Amino acid sequence: MGSVIDLIEAVAEPLVDAFRRPITYLRVSVTDRCNLRCVYCMPEAGLPWIPKPEILSYEEIATIVRAAAGIGVRSIRLTGGEPLIRRDLERLVALIAAIPGIDDIALSTNGLLLADLAPRLAAAGLRRVNVSLDTLHDDRFTAIARRSGLARVLAGIDAAIENGLGPVKINCVVMRGANDDELEAFAQMTRERPVHIRFIEVMPVTDNVDLQRDAWVSSDEVLARLGALGDLHSVPNPHGNGPARTFAYDGVPGTVGVISPLAHDYCETCNRVRLSADGRLKLCLFGDHLIDLRTPLRAGGGEAAITELFRASMHVKPERHFLELGQTASAMRAFSEIGG
Ligand code: 5AD
Ligand code: SF4
Repeated sequence: MGSVIDLIEAVAEPLVDAFRRPITYLRVSVTDRCNLRCVYCMPEAGLPWIPKPEILSYEEIATIVRAAAGIGVRSIRLTGGEPLIRRDLERLVALIAAIPGIDDIALSTNGLLLADLAPRLAAAGLRRVNVSLDTLHDDRFTAIARRSGLARVLAGIDAAIENGLGPVKINCVVMRGANDDELEAFAQMTRERPVHIRFIEVMPVTDNVDLQRDAWVSSDEVLARLGALGDLHSVPNPHGNGPARTFAYDGVPGTVGVISPLAHDYCETCNRVRLSADGRLKLCLFGDHLIDLRTPLRAGGGEAAITELFRASMHVKPERHFLELGQTASAMRAFSEIGG
């Protein structure tokens, strides 16, 4: 006879979408705001931010994560905007860390506030971080992010390593003429430190079509150029499955990888859904596949209602996105979503 636990597991069928992809990974945006204005992500003036009352509380997020964990979600990633600008984020980390079934909590950050917060986040149960870093030159940082802060981001990466928030991944969006001459400097970092650089193709988001068309560098080109710098061999992703193709130079502590969001092999192994800061479940990075969880939650639906909506959402998750180079993603903003 099975134990009660077996029985519960048998009843709570894990989430699998209509294309038989198991959904085990939930990305949680805790704010849409950001303290930078990266050219590929948002306009200088910012965006029409979500009004504060519509932003989910930490308790509301925890209820949604509990429902997700009950049906097979195992990994959570906190994203933004910039998640570290939300007050007391370590409190959310601790709430999530206490949820049975969640065995990995990660954070995607621009790193500006990481040096200060890394110890508290690690103590609360955060496992690892991805840091965005597109350039190692101060003036270029200010041009790309439209605000200064390179030294703080580098200090944040140090703090992440020191506080055991590894494997530390670094997301670098490659833009022709802006930073594509820095592949070698980034590759050099992987020879010196346990960092995992992921070069990301610029994706189309609202308003950046021109940049995306003019500055796009293919992952294949990046790989060819990385290969010319030394002996590269293919290695597994530093932390389980993900959309990156990962490589390393012989005998070095770090890795280099590429992420091609527009390629459809990215979609084939998709295991993820996203929760927006205002409580909508986003089933795909691109397109308008959304389910409102906030309204039923605030109407008192509780965990059971959310579980049912997760199940229903599996019929909404598309097989793939239909974007090609030079198109604009419909009305959606996809920031902080990719390698993240
Ligand atoms: N193209 C590619 N990556 C993007 N990101 C945000 N906007 C884009 C875009 N248009 C990703 C980058 C950045 C993180 C915050 O989100 O990885 O580092
Ligand atoms: Fe902020 Fe990240 Fe967007 Fe840059 S890419 S503006 S750091 S959310």
